[in-house]
Amino acid sequence: MKVITTQGSSEPRYLTDADLGAISDLSSRDVFLCGPQGLMSLAGELLDAQGVSRDRIHSTYFSAPQTDLGCEELGGKVRFARSNLDVDSSGDAPLLEIAEAAGLTPQHGCRMGICHQCSCRKTSGTVVNRLTGQSSGPGEDTIQLCISIPQGPVALDI
Ligand code: FES
Repeated sequence: MKVITTQGSSEPRYLTDADLGAISDLSSRDVFLCGPQGLMSLAGELLDAQGVSRDRIHSTYFSAPQTDLGCEELGGKVRFARSNLDVDSSGDAPLLEIAEAAGLTPQHGCRMGICHQCSCRKTSGTVVNRLTGQSSGPGEDTIQLCISIPQGPVALDI
């Protein structure tokens, strides 16, 4: 992913070690990062190289960070009960993307597990939380569509 900055330049360019090196006492400062995964990864590596400890880095992602889900079998048949629609899914696609690919338009906001606007009722099946890697129970539960990945057949009240 291209990571750019316009700081001190009329042209967009990549964030570099030199940019961070120009900040006095950087290793003793608190650093606040926000942006997409690629920027966060690059900035984290550059801050590591500058000796900034992880406990001084405060991060807000513009997208859900990727967690190693450690699950071999993700995906499954998804039943959107109120819409009378059944679709198959595979891999680590979250339910919000699966619903949208099926032509549904569930309510949502941030798409990264913060706003809860995508919360809905799961009536059966297991989902994996993309942020924590935790599996839900198999029964009824309120889940967030944008960070929930089916792990086998799932039924939703949508
Ligand atoms: S869209 Fe914001 S938590 Fe899912």
